[in-house]
Amino acid sequence: MNTRVPTLEDLEQALGGLAGKRILVRTDFNVPLDGSTITDDFRIRAALPTIEWLTERGATVLTASHLGRPKGQANPKYSMDPVRARLAELAPGVSLLENLRFDPGEEGNDDAFAAHLVDDPDGNGPIDGYVNDAFGASHRAHASIVGPPRRVPSAAGRLLEKEVDVLLGLRSSPKRPFVAVLGGAKISDKLGVVEALLDVVDHLVIGGAMAFTFLSAKGLPIGDSLFEPDQVDTCKRLLESGKAISLPSDIVGLDANGRFATWGTRIPEGGKGLDIGPGSAAEFSDIVMEARTVFWNGPMGMFEDERFAAGTKSVAEAMAATKAFTVVGGGDSAAALAQFRLDDDVDHVSTGGGASLELLELGDLPGLAALREGSTT
Ligand code: 3PG
Repeated sequence: MNTRVPTLEDLEQALGGLAGKRILVRTDFNVPLDGSTITDDFRIRAALPTIEWLTERGATVLTASHLGRPKGQANPKYSMDPVRARLAELAPGVSLLENLRFDPGEEGNDDAFAAHLVDDPDGNGPIDGYVNDAFGASHRAHASIVGPPRRVPSAAGRLLEKEVDVLLGLRSSPKRPFVAVLGGAKISDKLGVVEALLDVVDHLVIGGAMAFTFLSAKGLPIGDSLFEPDQVDTCKRLLESGKAISLPSDIVGLDANGRFATWGTRIPEGGKGLDIGPGSAAEFSDIVMEARTVFWNGPMGMFEDERFAAGTKSVAEAMAATKAFTVVGGGDSAAALAQFRLDDDVDHVSTGGGASLELLELGDLPGLAALREGSTT
């Protein structure tokens, strides 16, 4: 089995040059929309280096992506039209197929749908080569991700290559101290990555709603805060792992009467914790400032509500200010960083939420395996 993922240069060589070749680029243009307005075009801009590299060499580029979760049915709400319009501004002449998930064969990893993508995706005949630049979807074994590499010469695009380099670099050779800051709602969603990170990090910092299950595992009252009872034993085991794990030392939230409140680590009955407190924000920021590598995934609180944004903002500001090599997992933490206009101040913002966590946890993704096992090298 090949162990190396083929690059664009490998594809160029395999095809004997790219001039006049039709190349299908699987992108992750699953962008946030407000009606038909794109609120953040980061994922479209992130695909441009690959698209431009191919077009500069004379290839005809067709792009294809999913958008949302239309569940195998055409649905105007998930039409690619807004993305197509933005792509036309950023990369004139590059086409975009309709939402791949309008066809049940995409998520079903159907052979016939994969064959269609290769044989005649746009009514203009077969493609000559395939590029996967959809890092954010490469943890899905869907037809457009794993099918084409079995059929035509294929390669990783520049974005996919960079994401893999950065994230696997964290697993294999981080500069120390290496700190991971994890937040978000559920420990159960991130358990695999927490366990994997515990093996490599020097310090794990836990905020967000998932911190309450940890606080409860330490026997502290958490009021009506989010809580996963079935994860208490896991949290106890992680806390006893001997690794440095920091939890919030103060909390802010709403008391039983719905009033803003600040507590230590004991939340009274009826109270609901919704952000880390100012003391924790300062402690977490100090840990980030002293690190040499930081990975951050998941907000520290309900940052969409201004009253509970301070903890996430402090971590984002520390990420922007520290001299450490900083990597932000996609999803909510990337959105928070963009909200505070700090996204240009970290070293790498991943375009993948689930994909970045799965790659950190397992060290591989179905989309990468498909490229390795494909026909190019
Ligand atoms: C994402 O937004 O994380 C990717 O586009 C994958 O989307 P999915 O979770 O709907 O597969």
